[in-house]
This record gives sequence, structure tokens and C-alpha cells, in this order.
Amino acid sequence: QTGLFTYDPGFTSTASCESAITYIDGDEGILLHRGYPIDQLAENSTFMEVSYLLLNGELPTADELKNFTYTISRHTMLHEQLATFYRGFRRDAHPMAIMCGVVGALSAFYHDSTDITDPEQRMIASHRLIAKMPTIAAMAYKYSVGQPFMYPDNSLTYTGNFLRMTFGVPAEKYEVNPVIENAMRRIFILHADHEQNASTSTVRLAGSSGANPFACIAAGIACLWGPAHGGANEAALNMLREIGTPDKIPEYIARAKDKNDPFRLMGFGHRVYKNFDPRAKVMQKTAQEVLKELGISDPVLDTAQELEQIALKDDYFIEKKLYPNVDFYSGVILNAIGFPTSMFTALFALARTVGWVAQWNEMISDPEQKIGRPRQLYTGQTQRDYVPVDKR
Ligand code: SDX
Repeated sequence: QTGLFTYDPGFTSTASCESAITYIDGDEGILLHRGYPIDQLAENSTFMEVSYLLLNGELPTADELKNFTYTISRHTMLHEQLATFYRGFRRDAHPMAIMCGVVGALSAFYHDSTDITDPEQRMIASHRLIAKMPTIAAMAYKYSVGQPFMYPDNSLTYTGNFLRMTFGVPAEKYEVNPVIENAMRRIFILHADHEQNASTSTVRLAGSSGANPFACIAAGIACLWGPAHGGANEAALNMLREIGTPDKIPEYIARAKDKNDPFRLMGFGHRVYKNFDPRAKVMQKTAQEVLKELGISDPVLDTAQELEQIALKDDYFIEKKLYPNVDFYSGVILNAIGFPTSMFTALFALARTVGWVAQWNEMISDPEQKIGRPRQLYTGQTQRDYVPVDKR
């Protein structure tokens, strides 16, 4: 609720916002999107259906879903000159660097959806962002591996189209693997929105100044990149690979507990969840299913599961209420599907775009909303007079 809450030093501040989109109970490990539990959506829904739900507040009828999916499909292609923009990057540019640049540049191409006072333009910009993120992310991957860009194929599902643009090549017909498509569907749904996390708050703050929606989403991508936030999925898999075998786990647990060591167990802990992140449970189940169905036995999954078991029994993690979060297992699945670790956070950004856009629309359509202006607790010098340099 919007209202006042007090920090320890007696400093009061207003809550950041009111929102009806996502509800989290960190103590109980509950995550609801417009009232629907995340595990039910991950099991039964599609990313288009969840996108409609986040944007409009209700699950769509069959006709509404068909019309929404068709509308999104009208925007999957990128302006051809943006392909030239990609060619200005080094081949080894991090996909998140490319996505920050390309998404911010969209406002230079789509002038008919930057007027935030026009509800029609706001909705067109929202649909463009949701539709183009798979194309943008896939192109970032293709550019990094020196393969030609693949155009969208609107006869495929949102997830299937993304997989084909990423792993398909012009020389061959690409068959979407249903096991992989189902895993990506769940992963996209699990990452779609998460209340007022750092990157969503960044999008809201940027949007409160009246900045165009493309610039706001680019700001969200930049914030998500951090290893404490969306960058944790890439960092978690790199950590699990560094640990290597289960016998090395105690050494890393000890480092995570050592206050003098900056090392943190990546994929563990959360600002809000002081219980299991409900997304982590679905992610772990998906990791086991995907590896089994693809016939892959990845020792990293064994290490991850062993690490989870040891940490959950460790007094430090119990006392600090540290549990696996959404990023702990996602990398195992993405690696099994064939994504490089550098693409992991780009996939998080792709999926979270609908949440950012839904939260931005909720804020910008509130006639009472004002520019965000967080306050501070000043801890600097009291007033003093200037001293000329020859007197210092
Ligand atoms: C995401 O906000 C969201 O909703 C984010 C997200 C989303 O969907 O948008 O859920 C996605 O960002 C998930 C988090 C991904 N990040 C990581 O996995 C990186 C590793 N995790 C930590 O960096 C950490 O847990 C944070 C950044 C996520 C939260 O850090 P906080 O705010 O310091 O957590 P806290 O206050 O609960 O920490 C309590 C204590 C602290 O020690 P003390 O100051 O009490 O001595 O636990 C310690 C922390 O230092 N701690 C850890 C730890 N996480 C917290 N110690 C070791 N390993 C960890 N992973």
C-alpha cells in the first residue's frame, strides 16, 4: 500500500507505489500474478496468455488470446536499419550491452509510439517491445557467433519463434523441439514479472519523468544486468562450474559465510523471499526434466542439488533465511539447451519486458502519478565557508 514506513534511524519514507499486478509473500514463498499462483501459470499457461494477464488483469478468452497473439505477431520484425546498428558492435560485445543499445535506439525508429500521453501510442509501444525482444535477443546471439540474422516466423509460437531465430540457420529447416519449447515457455513465464524489484523500479522511476517507453525499458535492461540481480543466472552457472565437484562445496560455503570475503553464493538469497522462491522449485523440476528428456547428465546439476542440500542444513543460511532463488537452476537448463552463459541475462530481460511494460503502463496511466523523487538521509558536512586554494 502507498503509505509511510519507518527505517531504524527514525527516517520515514513513502512506499514506492501501489500496484495490482504481482503479489509476493516473502515469508510464505508465495508469488501471484493478478491473483494466479506462479506454479499454476508455469504449468498450464503460455507466455502470450501470461502477457495478456499481466497487461490487462484477466486471463483472456480464446478470442482475446487469438487477437492479442496476432497483434503481437504484427510487430516481431525489426526496422532493417537496426541490423546495421548491430554491425557497429564488436563481435565479442556482451548481449546485454547490445540489448541496452538497441532497445534504447528503438525510439529513434518508432516515432509513432513515443507520446506517453496517448493511450493508443502507449499500447502500440508496449506491443512492439514485447514482440521485438525475442528478435533483438536472437540477433544479439547470431551476431556474436557470426551467423546470419534469422527473420521471425509468425506461424510459430512466441517461444518457438525465438528458438528458431536463435538456433535456426537459413541453410536448413529448423524443427522446434517440444521439450525445449516447453522448458523455454516455463522459463519465460517464471521471469515475466516480480513486483517492485530493482529493474522494475528503475523502469518506473525513468517513466515517471515522462521518458519514452523504449528509453525506460533500456534503463531496466541496464539495471537487470547487475550480478546481484538478473546477472545472477550467468554468475550462478559460472560459480557452479568453478566449484566443479561436490567435494569442493564446503570451501565455497565457508567463503560465502566469511564477511571478509566478498564472495556470495550466486543464485541464493533474496531481498524479499525468506523462504523458498516458488520459481526456484519449478526451475529445479524443469532442469531435471529437460536433462532427462535430452539425455544429458550434467554434473553441474548434481553439484547444484548437492549445494542446495548442504546450504539448507547450514546454520548460517538457516539463520539468514537464504534459499535458492529463480537464478539458481535456470542456468543449468539454458546451458543444456545450448545458450552461452552470456545470453542468460538477455533471456531474463526478454521475459521481464512484459512485466516492465505492464508496470510502466500501470504507473503512467495513473492521472495522480508524479515524477519519482526518492529522498536521502544527509550524512555530510554542515554548512561552511569557502577557503581559497592558497589558504588550504
Ligand atoms: C533476482 O528483487 C527481486 O525480485 C529480484 C528478482 C526478480 O525476479 O526481479 O527476484 C531476481 O535478482 C534474484 C536475486 C539474484 N541475485 C543473486 O542470486 C546474487 C546472490 N544473492 C545476494 O547477492 C543477495 O541475496 C541479494 C542481493 C539477492 C540480496 O541481498 P541482501 O539484500 O543483502 O539480502 P539480505 O538482507 O536478506 O541478506 C541477509 C544476510 C546479509 O548478511 P548480514 O548483513 O546480515 O551479515 O545474508 C547475507 C547478507 O550479506 N547474504 C548472503 C547471500 N545473500 C545474502 N550471504 C552469502 N551468500 C548469499 N547469496
